[in-house]
Formats: sequence, C-alpha cells, structure tokens
Amino acid sequence: MLHGVQQGLEQLRQRRLTVLIVCHSLRFYAVDKFMARRLMTSQQIESVIKERINQSLHQRITFAEFMELALYHPQLGYYATPGSIIGPQGDFVTSPHMGHDFGEVIAEQFVDMWEALGKPDDFTLMEMGAGQGLVAGDAIAHLHTHHQSCFKCLSYIIVEKSPALKAEQKKRLGKWQQQGLSIVWKNLEDIEAERITGCAFSNELVDAFPVHWVELHAGQLKEMWVVVSEDKGFCAVAAELSTNQLAKYFENIDLNLGETYLEGYRTEVNLAAISWLAQVEAKLARGYILTIDYGYTAKRYYSPSRREGTLQCYYRHSHHSDPFIHIGEQDITAHVDFTTLEKHGDELGLQTIGFTQQGLFLMALGLGDRLQQLSQPTDPAQPATGQTIQKIMMRREALQQLISPMGLGNFCVLIQSKGLTQKEFVRPLKGLTIPPLF
Ligand SMILES: C[S@@+](CC[C@H](N)C(=O)[O-])C[C@H]1O[C@@H](n2cnc3c(N)ncnc32)[C@H](O)[C@@H]1O
Repeated sequence: MLHGVQQGLEQLRQRRLTVLIVCHSLRFYAVDKFMARRLMTSQQIESVIKERINQSLHQRITFAEFMELALYHPQLGYYATPGSIIGPQGDFVTSPHMGHDFGEVIAEQFVDMWEALGKPDDFTLMEMGAGQGLVAGDAIAHLHTHHQSCFKCLSYIIVEKSPALKAEQKKRLGKWQQQGLSIVWKNLEDIEAERITGCAFSNELVDAFPVHWVELHAGQLKEMWVVVSEDKGFCAVAAELSTNQLAKYFENIDLNLGETYLEGYRTEVNLAAISWLAQVEAKLARGYILTIDYGYTAKRYYSPSRREGTLQCYYRHSHHSDPFIHIGEQDITAHVDFTTLEKHGDELGLQTIGFTQQGLFLMALGLGDRLQQLSQPTDPAQPATGQTIQKIMMRREALQQLISPMGLGNFCVLIQSKGLTQKEFVRPLKGLTIPPLF
C-alpha cells in the first residue's frame, strides 16, 4: 500500500466534478458528488455502529467488530463504496497499480508451481481479496500469451468479500470467461474440501482482516472495546479480553508481555488470519499457499519499542492512526505477523517452503531482466522520441517501486505447501532462488 498526496490531488483535479453550487455568504462551493456520497455513507455507518453498540450487553463492541462493520458492512462499509477506493483515484495504491509487471511476473511463479506439481490437467489458482482484479487480469493474459500449455490447464477461483469490487472484477475478467476460461466467484466456506490442486494466493489481504486491539495495564493484557461517549463520540476503553485466544496467541509465539513490556503498550492481534489459514488449508488438496503482505516476524512486530502497534488508516493518499474519524471513508489496516501464519501452518500440517521479501521474490522471477531491458538502446532505426523516453522512465520508476527496500520491495512473501512429495518439496521454486536478507 502506497500513498502519494500529489498523485491523488492530481487525479482529484482531473476527475469530472459534478458541481453543486451552494450560495453561502456570497461564496461558491463546488462539492464533489463522489465525496458527498461518501460523507452521507459515513454518517449512516456511524449510526449502524452506534446502534450495534447500544444493543450490546455492556454497550461496547470489540475493536475487531468495529473494524468489520466500518470496512465490510455490505452496503455502507468502506469496501462497499462503488468506484475505486484502491488506485490513484482512491485512497491507496497496491503493487498491481505499478503496471502489468507485478501480475505478469507472479504468473511466472504460477507456471513454475504448475511444473513442480507435474503439470496437472486441472491447475487452479484461487485468488483471495482480488481488489479490482488487476493481478488476475495481468497474470491470465501473461499465461495466455507466453505459457499456453499451462493456460490450457488453468481454472480460476476468486474469493472476494466486497460486492462492489466483485462487480469490478467481473467486468474486467469477463472477456476471459467469454474465451472459455473457467473463472468463478465463491465464498471460501462454499468451496468443497481438497478441491484445489494449484495455488491459493493473496496480495494485501491479511492486513485487511479485522484485528483485536490489546493494551497492557499493570502487567495484565486487556482488550480495547469501542464505546460511544457523549462528548468524544467513538472511543476505546480497556476491559477484560473477549476471548482467551488472545492470551494464547502470545503464548504461542513465546511472548510474555507482562514481563518486559511497558505500561500502556498497545498492539493488535489478527485472530481472523488464523481461522482464514485453516479454511484455506482445508480447500487445498496439493499445492501452495502464497501470501504477500506488509508485516514482520513476531519478534519484530511485537518488539517492546513498537509501543503503539501498527494500526494504520488510509484516507485520500495520506495515513494516520485514528480509526474513529472518516468512518466508512477510510481503510483501516494492521501489519501481518508472519511468524503466526507460519507456526499455525505447521500445526495444520502445512510446510513452509520459503519466506522472503517481495523485492527479491520479483527479481528472482525476472523483474531484474525487465529493468535491464529498459536500459538497452532502442532500435537504432527508430531513434527514441521524447515521448518514448518519458514512457521508459515512468516504467522504470514503477519497477523500482515494486522492489524498493523502502517500500513495496520490503513486503513479506510466505510460501507454504501441502501434499507435496519429498522430491517436489525440495525442488526450489523460482521466486525463492535469491536467498532472503532477514
Ligand atoms: C487492500 S485490498 C487488496 C486488493 C488486491 N489484492 C490488490 O493487491 O490490489 C484487500 C482486498 O481484500 C478483500 N477482502 C478483505 N477481507 C476479505 C475476506 N475475508 N475474504 C475475501 N476478500 C476479502 C477486500 O475486499 C479487497 O478486495
């Protein structure tokens, strides 16, 4: 997830404004219709959440429930917003917004997985949280153009929670369905057990799961609950844990917060990630789970010095840490604890094939070659024009962003496997051939 205030403002300027002219104190205001809708939605979702709090036993809900409603209420949640919330015109951009290269290069990993699995006739890619369907579009097109034999064995499943984004995906990918490729949209729970031979993958999904917010008080782990106060509106108060899974979570990663952590230490726990992984594992017969996201190992995530946790909100290409403003109009995310994904995977019987950084993963899959090609002189018979040079420079900038250790390149890539033979397990996957720097 990247933000760029300037990029966002430029897009905003370019967007066709529906001008509502309101005469007030002899001044005229132009109100963006889109923004006006979001504001209205924000007021509605606030009412829904307040109602939910009022109806609850102690007039409070967990932060995870608040986040679930704010992001995923089917009509009013942030991810229900029609039009693009992701992308240059939205609140943040992700790797596939840097151009077609991300999806195309990832497709090279899919082909390699298909080969590693012995080129099965039915090779399924299951993408979870597919956003606008950009990775799907770019990966499918790449397989179609460059890897026909793999493409012929391909079927695609999309698991997407947002009705608005699902509609966008269907529009983007319809042409492939018309060409005979099987693409279906399913809820994870509706997919039959061990249906998939192939790869279940996600980019920036797990960071979007609702998290529990916890805080340390007098050496005790407390949970932050959301209440409504008359003067402050929504705010968080510390009380008992809603589930003892929260305390167990830290035991599982060998952390005793009570001992070394300072009073008021605040962090998040993503219990949804644990149940998600179990569900995904159950759908996989043979193959891989590829998870790309921003995050850390547990030791770094829950470092005593990270006293405020990692909760971040994204609003019009700027970020801050207050989830109680712009409700329904802003994204709320938390970094991913990859140690827990790995450990829980072990308990489920998954094997960790590799853990690396996005920059190295993409370089191993050919992004470096693409960068190098951009440095080659163009056809001498056709001298470069200012326009082509500008295009090349923009593409180079985009590729650099994908691998930059200060940005997207620092994202984590975890590959787990299920049902592989020992020979298949030890065969190195192409994306993992550059040793990680952790
Ligand atoms: C930050 S966006 C990333 C989108 C896309 N993968 C990309 O890279 O641009 C998170 C995506 O996950 C989806 N999502 C969140 N929770 C989900 C869940 N439990 N099941 C399926 N999709 C989910 C959101 O609706 C959205 O499409």
